[in-house]
Amino acid sequence: MEGTSESIIEVRNLWHLYFSSSGAPVEAVRDANLRVRRGEVVGIIGQNGAGKTTFVKHFNGLLRPTRGSVLIDHNEAKEMTVAQLSRNVGYVFQNPDNMIFLDSVREEMRFGPRNLGMPPDETEKQVERVLVEFGLEGYGDESPYILSQALKRRLTVASVLSMKPKILVLDEPTIGQDRLMANKLMRYIIDLNLKEGLTVVLITHDMRIVAEFCPRAVVMANGEIVYDGETRELFTKDDVLGRAFLEPPQVTELSLRLSQHFTRPVLSVEELVSEAREIRKSS
Ligand SMILES: Nc1ncnc2c1ncn2[C@@H]1O[C@H](COP(=O)(O)OP(=O)(O)OP(=O)(O)O)[C@@H](O)[C@H]1O
Ligand SMILES: [Mg+2]
Repeated sequence: MEGTSESIIEVRNLWHLYFSSSGAPVEAVRDANLRVRRGEVVGIIGQNGAGKTTFVKHFNGLLRPTRGSVLIDHNEAKEMTVAQLSRNVGYVFQNPDNMIFLDSVREEMRFGPRNLGMPPDETEKQVERVLVEFGLEGYGDESPYILSQALKRRLTVASVLSMKPKILVLDEPTIGQDRLMANKLMRYIIDLNLKEGLTVVLITHDMRIVAEFCPRAVVMANGEIVYDGETRELFTKDDVLGRAFLEPPQVTELSLRLSQHFTRPVLSVEELVSEAREIRKSS
C-alpha cells in the first residue's frame, strides 16, 4: 500500500541518551525526525549499534525521549502509558525470549487480546486463525520454551498480530528463518498492509527483505537518520551506503553493474526477469 496522506507516527527532534553508572553518556539517537503515513511499509536499516532498536522503542513507550517528541496517531506518546500505546502499536522484540512467558503457545497468543479487553469468543477465533496462518497450529498446547528460535520468533509475531494493532513494529522478524518462512511471514504482513491498511515499521539487516517488501527505507548510522526515501533510490547513493556499511542485494547489484541495460536499480528477481524480457523485445 502506498500510504495515505495522514501521518500515524511523527517523531520530532528525538534524542535518546543512555546513562551508564560509569563513563560518558551514549547518544544512541541523535536529533531524529520521521513521519510515517498510515498504511506505509518502512524498512529501518543500519549497522549494529546504529540506534535502530532504541529509536523504535519510543513508538510504544518502552523508552521515553531524552529530548524531542513522538506522536502516535496524533497523540503525544509521553502522555500515554505503554498499555495505552500497545492498543495501537504492536511491538515485536528483537529477542523472542524477552517476550515469551506463558505455559503454552495458545496462552501466549491469548494474552495480548485478552489484556486489551477483546471478548473471549473473538479472542479464540482470532488466535486460532493466526495459529493456522503462521503454521503454528500443531504447537498450540506446547510450551513456547521448547520451540526452536525460528518458531519462537514466528510465535512472537503471531502473538502481536492477534491484538490487531494499527501499527506493527518488528525488530528483525526474519532472522533465523529460512528463506521460505521469511517470505511467508513477510507476505502475510504485506497482505495485512494491503487489505487492512496496517502500517509497518520493520528493522532488518536483510537487504533483500528491504528491497522486496519495503518501498521506503530509513537508514541510521551513529544514532542519526542519514537517508529517508525510496528504497530503489537508496541503492544509487554510494555515499549513504558506504557511510552505513550497507550493500545492495545481489540482484540489485547486478542491475547496477549492467547499467547500460537497466535504467534503474532492480529490486527483485521477478523485476529482473520482467525487465530482461522487455530488453529482449525491444532489441
Ligand atoms: N540499555 C543500554 N544501556 C547503555 N547503552 C545502550 C543500551 N542499549 C543500547 N545501548 C547503546 O546504544 C547504541 C544503540 O543501540 P541499539 O541497540 O539501539 O542499536 P541497533 O541499531 O538496534 O543495533 P543492532 O543492529 O545490533 O540491534 C549502541 O551504542 C548501544 O551499545
Ligand atoms: Mg537492535
